[in-house]
Amino acid sequence: MLKEIWQERLQLVEAQLEKELKANPSLDSKLGEAMEYSLMAGGKRMRPMLLMAAADAVGRKGTDFLTAACAMEMIHTYSLIHDDLPAMDNDDYRRGKLTNHKVYGDGMAILAGDALLTLAFEVVLRQEADPAVKLAVVREFAIAAGQSGMVGGQAMDLEAEGQKIDMGTLQQLHMGKTGALFHAAIRSGAMLAGASEEELAALTTYADKFGLAFQITDDILDVNGDEALIGKPVGSDERNDKSTYVTLTSLEEARKLAEETAAEAVAALAPLGEKAGFLRELVEYLLKRNK
Ligand code: IPE
Ligand code: IPE
Ligand code: MG
Ligand code: MG
Ligand code: MG
Repeated sequence: MLKEIWQERLQLVEAQLEKELKANPSLDSKLGEAMEYSLMAGGKRMRPMLLMAAADAVGRKGTDFLTAACAMEMIHTYSLIHDDLPAMDNDDYRRGKLTNHKVYGDGMAILAGDALLTLAFEVVLRQEADPAVKLAVVREFAIAAGQSGMVGGQAMDLEAEGQKIDMGTLQQLHMGKTGALFHAAIRSGAMLAGASEEELAALTTYADKFGLAFQITDDILDVNGDEALIGKPVGSDERNDKSTYVTLTSLEEARKLAEETAAEAVAALAPLGEKAGFLRELVEYLLKRNK
């Protein structure tokens, strides 16, 4: 089931991203090109997939929320462009291509990121939904993207370079830099689909476990991944003296922690029954992923 739904939705996401990107053309053609370069470079589209799957899990058709799903992918892509900058992780490859700044220069890459973040908020407002729900979703996006979410986690990540931090701090860092967007994607899908309090609580736990497990597997792939498959450099964390699950424990221990965390994600889905099938399969995928 996962492969078919994934493929079908992947095509919908790609087409919609292109459409939303072009709906309001950029004042500067180079900026527009730089935004498109990273946004349309592929990527797994995990966050849009999860936003839609969360809506499925409360009994709505996930694809009804394609627009909001694409907005979330724009925030994610912006975070990657900035993450790769020389002042941050200084990486040369992303999604199998040269990083944005390598092609367009640091200044334009910063602006392409800024513009994608801003565009995301315009796009999420294009989502058809009850205005009060939409407002709540915009708030989810804003909190997740900012100082108490992704950007906050990225700041902790920078501060932790070359430092010895404890496991609790690392978990907070991961929950911020990566977990926050998963948290918002899944909660937004659920909210747009009219989730009950109980459903939203279950999906929030799922989201937080999923996000953490996702970053643990990212840390593992940074050590033992295949560059051709992951489309970004292996060994980036070591080069930058980062604190990761692998450096704080070991490859083996990190793998175990990812499995335990993923099992907690699946357990959280119990109240949702059959409708959460796709979300369960996504956890299996997460543990097996090689890219
Ligand atoms: C990479 O995210 C950065 C993290 C937050 C771990 P993904 O692994 O989802 O990257 P893409 O979108 O598929 O390129
Ligand atoms: C994820 O951390 C950072 C975000 C973009 C929020 P990483 O720095 O580990 O991501 P990758 O490995 O470069 O994709
Ligand atoms: Mg980073
Ligand atoms: Mg990085
Ligand atoms: Mg990484």
